Amino acid sequence: MDINRIQNLKNQAISNILEAKSEEELEHLRVHYIGRKGEITELIKKLPSLEGENRKEIGILLNDAKRAIGETLQQAQGKLQITQEPLDKEWLDITTPGKKPSHGHLHLITDAIREISEIFEKIGFTRVAYPEVEWDWYAFEGLNMPKNHPARDEWETFFIQGLSSKKYGEAVLTPHTSSGQLREMEKTKPPIRMLNIAKCYRRQAGVSHAPMFYQFETLVVDRGINIAHLKGTLDYFARQYFGPNRKTRIRPFHFQFTEPSFEVDVTCIVCGGKGCRVCKQGWLELGGAGMVHPQVLKNGEIDPEKYTGFASGFGLERVLMMKYGIDDIRLLFSGDLRFLKQF
Ligand code: DAH
Repeated sequence: MDINRIQNLKNQAISNILEAKSEEELEHLRVHYIGRKGEITELIKKLPSLEGENRKEIGILLNDAKRAIGETLQQAQGKLQITQEPLDKEWLDITTPGKKPSHGHLHLITDAIREISEIFEKIGFTRVAYPEVEWDWYAFEGLNMPKNHPARDEWETFFIQGLSSKKYGEAVLTPHTSSGQLREMEKTKPPIRMLNIAKCYRRQAGVSHAPMFYQFETLVVDRGINIAHLKGTLDYFARQYFGPNRKTRIRPFHFQFTEPSFEVDVTCIVCGGKGCRVCKQGWLELGGAGMVHPQVLKNGEIDPEKYTGFASGFGLERVLMMKYGIDDIRLLFSGDLRFLKQF
């Protein structure tokens, strides 16, 4: 038997195996070389009939060839299995960074409603809610604004067609939270500490006015309530909501349902009261307030000889916009995530 032939056979087998492209092909090669009737096997079978010294050497060579071919087959099979793993088979790469679920948060108007409620609840106010579709009586007439009174113009009101009451007049979309004052007086006997936060509607639109907006209204009625209580409550609110260094001032004004009436300002959030582009003179207007008019108390069946009260009404979006420096109210209602995600 020729030693070179055995070497060649082994080399050829190994190179065939390394080039094989499928498991089928490998199986074919296995049978061909080291199967029961394979080329190497046949030679090994012939060993006993060999004569002379060559026999041992050839025996070693053949066994070595058989082992090498067997090992190469195994390696090649392993490789094929990895590369031919079907792509759609599930697999897990524990090194890829995970996907973070995105967290939403409350809308900043909802946040403001909660924050303002908490501020007033701490000093004993009770949050209430009254109808958004309201009778004329509660929105105007009972607040000293008789039919055709020019003061009504300020409230640019939406009227509900075909809905009216003999006693309470026409139905409107409530244009301010002051309509809650009479409802509260009807419901609760003094002492009253009411916080009414609600949607209001007016025929208006622009960077600082929306047809639907929120107001928050305070009403306090008790024996001996005076302007100092009003001023103290306003100062408390301004410090709690805008920060410890805020001050408020009240300026004489006119509302039909309060006497005296005021407009309320707070020291500018941008310059702290020195005067700047935003505030001009150091003050920003918050809203209206005053001592409840005796006639309004009477309308609410409260004796103005015994009781006095104060009230205030602020635009919720307005204070919110002042706090964060937002310059367009429409952003608050747009649902634009680029804006909302900043809060
Ligand atoms: N309701 C008024 C408005 O919408 C604001 C207001 C003024 C409310 C004076 C009050 C008040 O309670 O006393 O413009």
